[in-house]
Amino acid sequence: MCGIVGYIGSREAYPILINGLRRLEYRGYDSAGVALVDGSGSLNVFKCKGKVADLEKFTEGKDISGTVGIAHTRWATHGEPNDVNAHPHYSGSGNIAMIHNGIIENYSVVREALSEHGFTFRSATDTEVLVQLIEYIRDSNQCSLLEAVRTALKQVVGAYAIVVVEKDNPDEVIAARKSSPLVVGIGDGEYFLASDATPIVEYTDKVVYVGDGEIAHIRRGGELKIVNLDNEESEIDIRKLELSINQLEKGGYPHFMLKEIHEQPRTIVDCTRGRISPDGRDVILSGVIANKDKFLGARRIIIVACGTSWHAALIGERAIEEMCRIPVEVEYSSEFRYKNPVLSPDDVVIAISQSGETADTLAAVELARGAGAFIFGICNVVGSSIARATDSGAYIHVGPEIGVASTKAFTGQVTVLTMLALALAKEKGTIDRAKFETVARGLLDMPALIDKVLAQDEKIRDLSKIFTYAHNFIYLGRGYNYPAALEGALKLKEISYIHAEGYPAAEMKHGPIALIDSEMPVVAIAPDDQIYEKTVSNIQEIKARNGKIIAVVSEGNTAIHSMADYCIEVPATPECLSPIVVSVPLQLLAYYIAVNKGRDVDQPRNLAKSVTVE
Ligand code: M6R
Repeated sequence: MCGIVGYIGSREAYPILINGLRRLEYRGYDSAGVALVDGSGSLNVFKCKGKVADLEKFTEGKDISGTVGIAHTRWATHGEPNDVNAHPHYSGSGNIAMIHNGIIENYSVVREALSEHGFTFRSATDTEVLVQLIEYIRDSNQCSLLEAVRTALKQVVGAYAIVVVEKDNPDEVIAARKSSPLVVGIGDGEYFLASDATPIVEYTDKVVYVGDGEIAHIRRGGELKIVNLDNEESEIDIRKLELSINQLEKGGYPHFMLKEIHEQPRTIVDCTRGRISPDGRDVILSGVIANKDKFLGARRIIIVACGTSWHAALIGERAIEEMCRIPVEVEYSSEFRYKNPVLSPDDVVIAISQSGETADTLAAVELARGAGAFIFGICNVVGSSIARATDSGAYIHVGPEIGVASTKAFTGQVTVLTMLALALAKEKGTIDRAKFETVARGLLDMPALIDKVLAQDEKIRDLSKIFTYAHNFIYLGRGYNYPAALEGALKLKEISYIHAEGYPAAEMKHGPIALIDSEMPVVAIAPDDQIYEKTVSNIQEIKARNGKIIAVVSEGNTAIHSMADYCIEVPATPECLSPIVVSVPLQLLAYYIAVNKGRDVDQPRNLAKSVTVE
């Protein structure tokens, strides 16, 4: 989604801003722009539809000097993606420029009021309305830029992270946020601003996360000051970034997605490190143990999430119910937040989010807080908004996930949810020791098992060629692997743009089986589990209607080989862990089909990595 970069210091801002925009490309965007203020009183704005590379071409030969500047990648919300709607936006006089992530909900009312004062607008955006409002207040109140921004923000409704610069004011930057993240990096006599830490990491490891409803006042060479909308000063809480520049590079892989798929043996190690004893006899998730009374006394657990995180939640639901015998409900955050849910202080709400910034999940967390529920976060990005808004939590520790299609975060989420179920079940006494140790050891063995699946990379690449031109796909699974089927279908559709649906295998005969003919590839997930025989019957029903079957089966299975057109074997695991091993070949299949089709795998069309608008 939209990305923000800002700089003020003694260096030329342009290279830092462009570099930062490149680091933010993974978030997904459709236009880019930059504004530079130089000491001679000029404010130059360059912006265009397309990629950061297009912006660089556009600025060739132009005046890009200045030691203060702001830059933006836009993911269109109000107004189509074009040059005019791209950020930065600037005021009528051209004195003030601003970049903005989020949505100003009452922008049309403000726009109308400004029009009555003679203002005209170049773009269709809510952002231009806000920058014009700031200028109107600055001029009519004859106040400072900080004061104008503060007053304007009190008049708008919605979500924002903004950074504002001014033509005649090259020593000052104002930034503010509400429900949209903003980080300030503190260098040596210089400051960096960004919507996440990735553009900052190569310059400094000292950061301040601007709080919700706060404004950062940054002066060249001066101290950072943070105030709230009532002008009360906040303490500056400087944190150390635990992120390295190597983690943000492709490391020899053609795409981040492929790198991230192949990282999974290591990310599972990082996720379980220090949490499962080497003999598999204990699982220690400190956030769960410290709050075990809340969990064990819970009337029920509600898990809120979106997209892939929602699929992980469905797996977590099964694991917690099976092992802990606590009722669990899984909700799409976007539905939950508007359904007036029945919530009480004896509910536990688990929020799952890779980015930790998903607007709907954050809103669901706020709703749960209002009802007095205990809120537990499962996030990847350390220090993210959801991680900070929850009462306690467990990071998945899989490192930065740059590819828009979530891969290693999914397996990390399932791993944390399984550890959570184990830890609670042990406390509650609802799991026998043998089962506990089998699952815990299964997680410790998982990296080696995933390595075995990854060794089939070439075979899956060959298989992908057969299906590159398919128009539809169906993914089937049962039990723990029904969510794996949903996730496999989501991976394929989001990066290859092939229509794909996931179903519980036995549901086919209630309607979707009408779709089956010799043109329909069906991915059937059928590892050896309690329900294996039933799944085999479902596969036979597909075969009888000439569907093309790609079966994902346990190593050594010969029965399905005679039925399926193609088979991918995965190592045996305890049933609750099989979604982890079966997801890996499905990730590879989607990846290679998308590559064969020439798709932009890491930044698929219309998608954003971090969905910061509802
Ligand atoms: O950062 P989150 O986990 O909250 O993101 C939720 C979804 O937007 C995300 O999982 C999305 O569905 C991915 N593109 C899936 O690959």
